[in-house]
Amino acid sequence: MKHFTSVTQLGDLKDAFAAAKMVKEAPFADKALGENKTLLLVFFNNSLRTRLSTQKAGLNLGMNVIVLDVNQGAWKLETERGVIMDGDKSEHLLEAIPVMGCYCDMIGVRSFARFENKKDDYEEVILNQFIRYSGKPVFSMEAATRHPLQTFADMITIEEYKKTARPKVVMTWAPHPKALPQAVPNSFAEGLNMTDYDFVIANPEGYDLAPEFVGKAKVTHNQDEALEGADFVYAKNWSAYEGDNYGKVLNMDRSWTVSKEKMALTNNAYFMHCLPVRRNMIVTDDVIEAPTSLVIPEAANRVVSAQTVIKKLLQDNY
Ligand code: CP
Repeated sequence: MKHFTSVTQLGDLKDAFAAAKMVKEAPFADKALGENKTLLLVFFNNSLRTRLSTQKAGLNLGMNVIVLDVNQGAWKLETERGVIMDGDKSEHLLEAIPVMGCYCDMIGVRSFARFENKKDDYEEVILNQFIRYSGKPVFSMEAATRHPLQTFADMITIEEYKKTARPKVVMTWAPHPKALPQAVPNSFAEGLNMTDYDFVIANPEGYDLAPEFVGKAKVTHNQDEALEGADFVYAKNWSAYEGDNYGKVLNMDRSWTVSKEKMALTNNAYFMHCLPVRRNMIVTDDVIEAPTSLVIPEAANRVVSAQTVIKKLLQDNY
């Protein structure tokens, strides 16, 4: 594996889960692997979990870790070619990226969808520039269309908690006041499509995800119907993908909030969310605080997910 931008690059899932289990059981066993190697984490957007869990993963592997918040203290970066740089942006990403590559052995990048140009977002222009110009192994810490380290952590969590070989997993849209990217739901769908689980996506009309991510999932616009018999309920908001509505909030229908009444339709399902979550918009207090809520185990598995991926990148590239 040269770079990591999608859960599909994990290869065989059984092997990936076994590798994750080894990391979880002995987190410091590979300290020599990262000795004298520097991990640079570049954030174009805010983060709590990804920032901390990926740093922890690098430290567990014996790496030196540098974190760069592009919008705090670095020069303001231009990302488009051909722009006359007479505004407030002092440096071009095409110089900044190879310079960053000089100072490290591996780069993690967080760069969300900007909702300015759907084509640029879905072609992952920023992430691909890091891959092309840094000269170093690059991994995504959430890009415009995917959040693979989150998805891998979610899949590890489902693997740990599932009570049947083929659980019913329902990913449901839930309301949110701001336009959020499709990266988490796209990526979760991509990951679940690698399994033989019964996978259902529930969202209001107008919120269907890109077909290449939906894959073989069943899609319904009826949340109650989807939740019947679910073993896992994965809640997430996303903005519209289709046509001119790309990146827009079409409604904030709170009848889609995951509540105790909604969870009563399920097979005593576990509740999942990647966090951060807006309580009583996405999920009610009682559901997220219930013993069946897996939000903290998911967050804990972010270290396992990142460490498993960084370990593989170190093994395959150095
Ligand atoms: N789930 C997740 O990626 O959280 P952060 O945005 O806080 O990193």
